[in-house]
Amino acid sequence: MASKFQAPRGTFDVLPEQARGRARVQRVAAEVFARAGYEPIATPAFEDTELFVRGVGRSTDIVVKEMFTFEDKGGRSLTLRPEGTAPICRAYLEHGMQKLAQPVKLFYAGPFFRHERPQAGRYRQFHQIGVEAIGTDSPLADAEVIGLLSDLLAELGVPGVELRLGSLGSPESRRGYLEELKAHLRDNEGDLSQDVRERIEINPLRAFDADDVGTQEVMRTAPTIVESLDGEDAEHFAEVRALLDAAGIAYEIDPTLVRGLDYYTRTIFSFVCEGLGAQSEVGGGGRYDGLIEQLGGPPTPAIGWAAGIERILLALGEEDAREGRDAFVAAATDEQRHRALALAAELRNAGLSAEVDLAGRGLKGQLKHADRIGARRVLILDDDGTAQLRDMDSGEQRPVDPGRALEELGA
Ligand code: HAM
Repeated sequence: MASKFQAPRGTFDVLPEQARGRARVQRVAAEVFARAGYEPIATPAFEDTELFVRGVGRSTDIVVKEMFTFEDKGGRSLTLRPEGTAPICRAYLEHGMQKLAQPVKLFYAGPFFRHERPQAGRYRQFHQIGVEAIGTDSPLADAEVIGLLSDLLAELGVPGVELRLGSLGSPESRRGYLEELKAHLRDNEGDLSQDVRERIEINPLRAFDADDVGTQEVMRTAPTIVESLDGEDAEHFAEVRALLDAAGIAYEIDPTLVRGLDYYTRTIFSFVCEGLGAQSEVGGGGRYDGLIEQLGGPPTPAIGWAAGIERILLALGEEDAREGRDAFVAAATDEQRHRALALAAELRNAGLSAEVDLAGRGLKGQLKHADRIGARRVLILDDDGTAQLRDMDSGEQRPVDPGRALEELGA
């Protein structure tokens, strides 16, 4: 009878054949990060709701619509983490990491939760890998973390990746810019879609994403935030660009780039992969120079990013791959089964991958099974103390001394 239970909407099981591709992404990421001196950190799957309300922003889609929030038995409001930056800043303050040599360079991987409408590349439980460099406003850090994501995607072989770069400036200069933008929209109100017109005061940036021709025409002459950067913000952005140029990292300035979290200041970036369709961003991030102060800490500039593991796997279009086995130890008769098990253990101890039959198959069934699991060679143990080594690619079989099995199999 089919089970009446299914994984909840927007979630999925990671089956063994899919787990391998995921493990590779995490392993390569950990290697790339470790080579640059980033250290692993893990924070809880849930936090005080207020951390995200204050950190991510009260009016963001994430906080308004997408959080899995619940009350615990003590009446505290908790939320399954929708993102990792606010929790890491919380941990940075809680453990006094501002006393360490700065910046503190961290990386993480794990599940995150957002109540979004599920579609390809968008889930309610998804997985991110990410880095944060906390305690520096140097453009060198911007270039370094952007370079890490660029290197990681290249090393994994993700095709067709493009980097979009922007800068939001400081909160003050952004406020000034938004007033300018609103004025431009109001001056051209008659040509805007109703949707955009109604949101001039609430979210004028949204006009840059509009589909209708009238709004697009108005936006062609709209002021952009990148052009309106002044003083130190403009210098900082110029320096980040020069460092990326020097490192040979290609990017496109996207003056309309916006991100769905309120904590960003100055540099923001997004790595997109056109092959992904609607959910085209594999990873992105930026500076959040005011976040730690907003959470009650001292002024502490920082930058980081996160990438979606599912999006990376989709972009790689990876087939669910099974790894082969070095050897299968077959028993020609039941009497040889315990010897087969002992020999397989010996091979494993010597670092080879080896399996034996655990299901009572006859010799023919064992050979078939060895083929199914991708064993490259099968050692067949006979009753008279002899053994045969079969090469599964060529089908060739020759007698070998079972006492020399390890050497024969190249252990
Ligand atoms: P984010 O842009 O919200 O940033 O998410 C980063 C990445 O997570 C996205 O580019 C995407 O690949 C993946 N992602 C987000 N939502 C979903 C979803 N529902 N299903 C599948 N994948 C998803 C942050 O979370 C920031 N904390 C990044 C950051 C770190 N900024 C500074 N430091």
